Amino acid sequence: MSEIPVIRTAHLCKSLPVGGQMLEILRDITLDIWPQEMVAIIGPSGSGKSTLMGLMGGLDSATNGKIYLRGEDITLLGERALTRMRNQKIGFVFQYFNLVPTLNALENVMLPLQYAPNSPRRGHKKRAQELLEMLNLGERMNHNARQLSGGEQQRVAIARALANNPSILLCDEPTGNLDRASTALVTEALFQVRENTGTTVVVVTHNPTLAKRMDRIIELVDGQIVPSPATIAPH
Ligand SMILES: Nc1ncnc2c1ncn2[C@@H]1O[C@H](COP(=O)(O)OP(=O)(O)OP(=O)(O)O)[C@@H](O)[C@H]1O
Ligand SMILES: [Mg+2]
Repeated sequence: MSEIPVIRTAHLCKSLPVGGQMLEILRDITLDIWPQEMVAIIGPSGSGKSTLMGLMGGLDSATNGKIYLRGEDITLLGERALTRMRNQKIGFVFQYFNLVPTLNALENVMLPLQYAPNSPRRGHKKRAQELLEMLNLGERMNHNARQLSGGEQQRVAIARALANNPSILLCDEPTGNLDRASTALVTEALFQVRENTGTTVVVVTHNPTLAKRMDRIIELVDGQIVPSPATIAPH
């Protein structure tokens, strides 16, 4: 196998002190996610899905084990290098869209570009327009965030997460707050993202329909991967 996984975790463990004891939240998580894969992470509430996603995106630090993003061991990075890595490589999408309500869709998508180094300002608007058009929001660019439906807001949030052209899009319950019709549109948006940008997409979800659309499902129970043929990478 010549390809390098976009995300590799090796014997990843996360424990936290709770009530004077160490609570094991993730235990021995070893997995590979491959370029342009779309992967669902499912499991009961409290099984560690968000914790795993936070570790993969460098938002949180591991207790034990390794996380490699395209071969680079991010568990060795200091805070500044980790922040730089996150800004350059990862896009995050959460259940609550967290758009700035007083800005329009275009301005929301342009926001992260202002913090990117060496990014000429005049390119920002064009980039944001292209992303919104890709997500079928060309007609909504000048609407204030609060004037958009939930599904539209989430697609703006996806566009915002893609602004800096990340190689990985991490989505934590992106449809958790949406009705069925909006869920379908957001799901299609994720496929458009992969097709147009080649981004690897990881989705934590409680929605079985969304999970089944992904290339592969990883199931967590009590902080561990449930072994199943579906968890073996197709490569
Ligand atoms: N900072 C923390 N301190 C103590 N316990 C924590 C902390 N963060 C998470 N936990 C615990 O770790 C476990 C896993 O949490 P996590 O948020 O990863 O679950 P989840 O699978 O995302 O659940 P949900 O589907 O409800 O979002 C839970 O039992 C939670 O209470
Ligand atoms: Mg969660």
